[in-house]
Amino acid sequence: MIWIKRILMLALVALIVIQFITVEKNEGGYESLQPFVQETKPSEEVAGILKTSCYDCHSNQTQYPWYSNLAPASFFLADHVEEGKEHLNFANWESYSAKRKDHKLDELIEEVEHGEMPLESYTLIHGDAKLSAAQTEALINWAKAARLNYSASVQPQ
Ligand code: HEC
Repeated sequence: MIWIKRILMLALVALIVIQFITVEKNEGGYESLQPFVQETKPSEEVAGILKTSCYDCHSNQTQYPWYSNLAPASFFLADHVEEGKEHLNFANWESYSAKRKDHKLDELIEEVEHGEMPLESYTLIHGDAKLSAAQTEALINWAKAARLNYSASVQPQ
């Protein structure tokens, strides 16, 4: 039985050691979302949905839960935020071409319609981020209206 104790000790030491690995936090603030908000004009309701359900992974500002400071949860979270921003960062809206904006909104409609966003691993912990049918509809209607801004400059395929 001594080896079980040793393995547990080793695991404990490893858990303590990884706490010293710091991950960079995504805390650049919400200001960089201004161009996106000005262009796509979300209603107060939609703006609220985006903030509660999407910005944590798709903007430069994440609202971190208390356990985000604990490894390995911190690694897992940083990974999701990094990957989410890589695919879509509303804070970089200005740098996207009209075609890309149109395409991202199209994907947004698709993801939300199929219940794929926000990620399930996220809504398990953030119950309030889960979209109701009415919220899903509001988000889709807003995205469809916002797409009209860009469709004029996008060549029909
Ligand atoms: C917990 C983090 C997280 C949250 C919260 C989240 N996403 Fe995502 N999102 C991701 C990740 C990671 C990807 C890339 C991998 C994938 O597609 O599953 C992604 C991909 C996407 C894409 C595809 C972009 C592309 O070009 O491939 C869209 C659109 C999207 N998310 C929209 C949303 C919307 C809208 C919300 C809120 C209703 C949301 N996401 C909430 C993490 C998140």
